[in-house]
Amino acid sequence: MYTATTPLEQNHPGLQSLQNLIAGDLQEVNRLVEKRLHSEIALINQLAFYVINSGGKRIRPILLLLSAGAFSYKGRHHIALAAIIEFIHTATLLHDDVVDASKTRRGQESANMVWGNEASVLVGDFLYSRAFQMMVDIGDMEVMGILAHATNTIAEGEVLQLLNQHNADTHENQYLEVIHCKTAKLFEAASQLGAVLCQRNTQEKQALAAYGMHLGTAFQLIDDVLDYTGNPEAIGKNVGDDLAEGKPTLPLIYALHHGTPPQQQLIRRAVEQGGREHIAAIIETIASTGAITYTENLAQGEAAKAAAMLKILPASPYRDALYALAEFSVTRQF
Ligand code: IPE
Ligand code: IPE
Ligand code: MG
Ligand code: MG
Repeated sequence: MYTATTPLEQNHPGLQSLQNLIAGDLQEVNRLVEKRLHSEIALINQLAFYVINSGGKRIRPILLLLSAGAFSYKGRHHIALAAIIEFIHTATLLHDDVVDASKTRRGQESANMVWGNEASVLVGDFLYSRAFQMMVDIGDMEVMGILAHATNTIAEGEVLQLLNQHNADTHENQYLEVIHCKTAKLFEAASQLGAVLCQRNTQEKQALAAYGMHLGTAFQLIDDVLDYTGNPEAIGKNVGDDLAEGKPTLPLIYALHHGTPPQQQLIRRAVEQGGREHIAAIIETIASTGAITYTENLAQGEAAKAAAMLKILPASPYRDALYALAEFSVTRQF
């Protein structure tokens, strides 16, 4: 919870200004999240509270608050919208951990491990639908359209990824399409909505949307690197989950095309069969073929494209924080 400093500030020098800029707003967002989690069904309260209160970087609500701040938003809808976005994000995490059979999330046992897959899926549905109830309260069709489209695209991304599972011939472009849909789309929506709330012109809305899309793409590229190189305590998730599930993420795709024939065979088999058996050799192959550097460079490029979109904004501490967020997306260790 955000009583003192946010985890982002503590761990990233460029983001220290968040405290002054949006700490009050974030506290309000967290209060609203807690209030709107409520249900008469005890299991919903327990499970939803468990996952929402276990931390999480709150990057998407922060993005929305900064985007609205960058256009000097003076209204009240940004708090509800930030909470809505965190509900949608948390719903996708509940579903994603079931699909990925993940055992750890946000530094604790995943909800599916504690309550089982059925409860996780259903409480995920509760959070999704609660988000839509809250959108109706805002009553803005443009906002509703953006979020309806984003949630639908996330679902498509997760299904596309399922279709690529165990397919060693998955192309880099197919992988990129998956991450644009499953992750970057919600970043795009959060960023764009700041401009929409402030009724900015089309060019400004498009620039902020593009900022979010590039930021989210960089963020997921690094997430896929951290799945091989990260410190489990820092990221709050197990490493090696992608490999175990036979997910052809970019580090594997690149290594498959640039390794020696035996390395290629090792990776092909790992994608096709899944499992953690050969993880040490695979991590070594990913490093020696330059796959990590390649993926990190692509993320750097995306972060630079995101930053370039911010030229449309007037200078302000909010704009500076958005620059810092782009940098965080590629330097993050958690
Ligand atoms: C996790 O997102 C899912 C991805 C898109 C990689 P975050 O890394 O933002 O998760 P929390 O909210 O901080 O736990
Ligand atoms: C996260 O995908 C995207 C969504 C939750 C929609 P991942 O499966 O790559 O993320 P983690 O590693 O479980 O957080
Ligand atoms: Mg996952
Ligand atoms: Mg997943």
